[in-house]
Amino acid sequence: MEPNETVLSDVHVFAPFLKIENSDTALTRFVIKQPKQNNEKDVDHGSINTVMKDDEGDFVVDRGIKYDNEPCDVIIIEHQLATVLKDVGLQVWRGALLLADYLLENEDMFAGCYGLELGAGVGLCSVVLGRVASAVFCTDFGDDVLRNCHKNAEMNAHLYKNTSVNKDEGQVSPVVKVRELDWTKGIILSSTSNGMEECYRWSKTDTDELKKVTVFFAADVIYDDKLTDALFNQVLHLLQQNQQATFYLSIEKRLNFTMEDLDVVCPAYKYYLQTIQRLQTKKILHVKQIPTTFTQFFNYERVKELELWEMKAHGPE
Ligand SMILES: C[S@@+](CC[C@H](N)C(=O)[O-])C[C@H]1O[C@@H](n2cnc3c(N)ncnc32)[C@H](O)[C@@H]1O
Repeated sequence: MEPNETVLSDVHVFAPFLKIENSDTALTRFVIKQPKQNNEKDVDHGSINTVMKDDEGDFVVDRGIKYDNEPCDVIIIEHQLATVLKDVGLQVWRGALLLADYLLENEDMFAGCYGLELGAGVGLCSVVLGRVASAVFCTDFGDDVLRNCHKNAEMNAHLYKNTSVNKDEGQVSPVVKVRELDWTKGIILSSTSNGMEECYRWSKTDTDELKKVTVFFAADVIYDDKLTDALFNQVLHLLQQNQQATFYLSIEKRLNFTMEDLDVVCPAYKYYLQTIQRLQTKKILHVKQIPTTFTQFFNYERVKELELWEMKAHGPE
């Protein structure tokens, strides 16, 4: 793909969104819905070429899941509708919804945890974990992505159940903290002036809190082999420092037909599989795929190309 080619995630098409006039910016409402206990009752799986109408005579489009009409939480996310490749972090990707579903399904397990998201983009997964976590470092790189992510983290702060208090200074700090973490450079302390905006730099308090992180996570960050190398170097470094931590990674396999292969291929995914295989063989990582049968709280197409993986550092034998 050429660097200036436009890329579209189109994730917002399943959620109500408001387009901001004369721009490609949108505000999307991601609704967290509780699926009905008995889906089978209301869904007509068998009918072909028939469309049901509701009480008002409008067509009912069957998206396969029926939800309760209970009041539900809504996450509002500002994002772009289309970008060039280098700005993909300004869009929402489907892998984020899969990972967010998993975080919601396991809120009891994650309650009170410290988390860190890599390549957070618009910050949706960090906001979801922020509902129950003690603190979440929501990381990415580049001022535009970080600024947009910061706006989203603040816009949804009413959903965070805990307050994060800095014990030394007695100040309340935000539960979801946006920080710069470029996988090719690692964590840079605030004392280093490298052109990064001050508020996204890491303080000494942050690096102390980093030691408590048990949940590392990333959504849809496997699309370029060099970046996959940089990501895994960074993740291994973080897991070595926090031996008890788990890394969750969602992936969407994007298939392309190439003339070179005369077949449908997914080279980025293939490279990812080789990487984890190597790390398992060398006994550096334990890797396990999580079946994607957990509850779907968000409205999107959970296609079979969406996968979720869990990794831990290999402890001493
Ligand atoms: C396809 S987007 C996914 C964004 C978000 N996780 C989601 O699923 O909606 C890939 C993300 O990886 C980030 N990224 C790419 N290279 C990076 C690097 N070297 N360091 C940190 N983040 C990077 C991008 O800025 C972008 O936010």
